Amino acid sequence: METLRKLVEQLPKAELHIHIEGSLEPAMMLELATRNAVELPYADVDEIRKAYNFNCLQDFLDIYYSGMSVLQTKQDFHDLTWAYLQRCQQQNVVHCEIFFDPQGHTERGIGFATFMAGFKSALDQAESELGISSKLIMCFLRHLDEQSAFDTLEAALPFLDQITAVGLDSSEMGHPPCRFENVFRRAAELGLKRVAHAGEEGPPEYVYEALNCLFVDRIDHGNRALEDPALVKRLVDEDIPLTVCPQSNLRLAVIGAMAEHPIREMLALGLRAGINSDDPAYFGGYMNENFFALIDAVGLTRDEIFLLVANSFKSSFLAPHEKQAHLDRITAMQAQQEGSA
Ligand code: ADE
Ligand code: ZN
Repeated sequence: METLRKLVEQLPKAELHIHIEGSLEPAMMLELATRNAVELPYADVDEIRKAYNFNCLQDFLDIYYSGMSVLQTKQDFHDLTWAYLQRCQQQNVVHCEIFFDPQGHTERGIGFATFMAGFKSALDQAESELGISSKLIMCFLRHLDEQSAFDTLEAALPFLDQITAVGLDSSEMGHPPCRFENVFRRAAELGLKRVAHAGEEGPPEYVYEALNCLFVDRIDHGNRALEDPALVKRLVDEDIPLTVCPQSNLRLAVIGAMAEHPIREMLALGLRAGINSDDPAYFGGYMNENFFALIDAVGLTRDEIFLLVANSFKSSFLAPHEKQAHLDRITAMQAQQEGSA
């Protein structure tokens, strides 16, 4: 097990499902609250952690949106993003595709110019100083209506050169993907890629809708697709990636115990799954901790680790030659391991 942990640490990895607002660690939340004179209902880090006892997605989202209130200035968004990128460096995550929730900020009177400038300075710094590449994915909050998503897309127009894709997140139940068909079509016309959270709490039908109405390039989570063999076949046949988030699944009760996590079944079925942290500050770990949890609980094998890591690069929005360079490194590491085994 120790050697598998080492392998995870040594492998260069890509993260494709990380909400930057979900990387807001309790210590930074307190620091920014003080900096911006925002009143929080918590006195210290322990109280914040105690509040993180969610039983479902909605419980988590209530706390997640209230935590965001401390993010106010360009510097705050820079500091948040830079802290995540430093974690990436420590964990050998060399490429990341980061979600952000503009409506969580514009609703509070914080405009695109503020948060996009903070993201940009941190991401540029990571590219030049840490060698970490990145893309930004702008998510629409599905508990709000499609008009609000259209307004958000309109406000994003001056920043489109910084945005690679649109996504769909927030409360899944009762908010099916098809409601966002028109705004996703507009995003596609603007040259943006598309992803959507589906099949996290919602039924397999929501995964079908993400494919049929939103024409997504990837499904975020997708766990419940396993309930429908025809859907699994379609995801395999069309090579649709799933961005899977084990610790999130456990904390939000998508699974009852880590030992029940279906990641090995997903791979055995031929699904193109990869590992991600989702909201690491809230769910107890970043990329490597998610791998470690699976190694311990479901007995992830060496070959499965290589496959999961390769899948994420393949599923990324990097250019083909960039993907290939990462995949070649992974193949070389695998051959070297096999040679010395
Ligand atoms: N926003 C942040 N994390 C999320 C998740 N796991 N599902 C839906 N929306 C989210
Ligand atoms: Zn997510």
